[in-house]
Amino acid sequence: MFHKDNTFGYQDVMIYPLISNGVEGVVVRVDDVTHRVHMEEMMVQSEKMVSVGGLAAGMAHEINNPLSGILQSAQVLISHLSPDAPANRAAAEASGCTMENIRAYADKRQIPEFLEAIRESGVRAARIVSNMLEFSRKSHSTRTPEQVNDLMDKAVELALSDYDLKKQYDFKRMHIERQYDPHLPEVPCTRTEIEQVFLNLLKNAAHAMAQTPDSAAPPGIIVRTSVEGNWLRIEVEDNGPGMPESVRKRVFEPFFTTKPVGEGTGLGLSVSYFIIVTNHGGRFDVQSEPGKGARFILWLPLGN
Ligand SMILES: Nc1ncnc2c1ncn2[C@@H]1O[C@H](COP(=O)(O)OP(=O)(O)O)[C@@H](O)[C@H]1O
Ligand SMILES: [Mg+2]
Repeated sequence: MFHKDNTFGYQDVMIYPLISNGVEGVVVRVDDVTHRVHMEEMMVQSEKMVSVGGLAAGMAHEINNPLSGILQSAQVLISHLSPDAPANRAAAEASGCTMENIRAYADKRQIPEFLEAIRESGVRAARIVSNMLEFSRKSHSTRTPEQVNDLMDKAVELALSDYDLKKQYDFKRMHIERQYDPHLPEVPCTRTEIEQVFLNLLKNAAHAMAQTPDSAAPPGIIVRTSVEGNWLRIEVEDNGPGMPESVRKRVFEPFFTTKPVGEGTGLGLSVSYFIIVTNHGGRFDVQSEPGKGARFILWLPLGN
């Protein structure tokens, strides 16, 4: 393993004796096998994703039904506490009290707050489930030619207005540098899916940098677009804490997260991986080292 352009490369080293014409020496042969090692890593990755991805989609379907039951019932309970509904008033009267009494009791015992908490948690779980269902959607659905620079702009805008992000970290304070290829050709893709991928990457970068707010360099993200052969290459790079190899190797696995329960679902990158690799026939890679930020690179086929 050796250092190369900010990341690791790999070399095969071969040494063997050389004896000929009375000359004695050694032959040292060094091959750069970085590309092969990366391909192998990616293949292992996609194998893993196929099995775990299918499992996640199956689970999501199973969870969906009971979850909508919980959500609907919570909604009904909330409306049955409303003093305005005539049916509620009638039932209260028939039980020998007023809706106002019932409401006062409920408020004293914080019942509306608890119901709201049930609803909120349910909505959160539903979001996770719908993310998981992405795994089973092999969409060739609505591919249209898109200008990726525009999609990235849209994702940045979404990130700026993301409420969860604002709570934890002021995304606006973060410097976002756009290094776009101004002559980028359009690429056939599903707009909403690609936007979701970009948003996931930006959110992750923001989360990562929030962990080291006092670092020397001000937090910053660089987004790049370019053409590489028959591919459109997109990069999202941050100067956050980066990650050790043990994490880097697992980031695309469903449910792999290093964040506390309730904050991370471990689905962002695995869903993104599926969108890019399975749904769009693209490639996805990550480069990172502890203390040196992280760079996510993805390629979309230009399709011509
Ligand atoms: N930009 C980044 N810098 C450092 N670590 C990252 C970055 N992006 C992702 N990760 C790591 O990858 C893990 C998985 O990411 P993701 O699939 O989006 O799930 P989640 O964000 O819910 O944890 C994160 O928990 C984090 O450890
Ligand atoms: Mg994430």
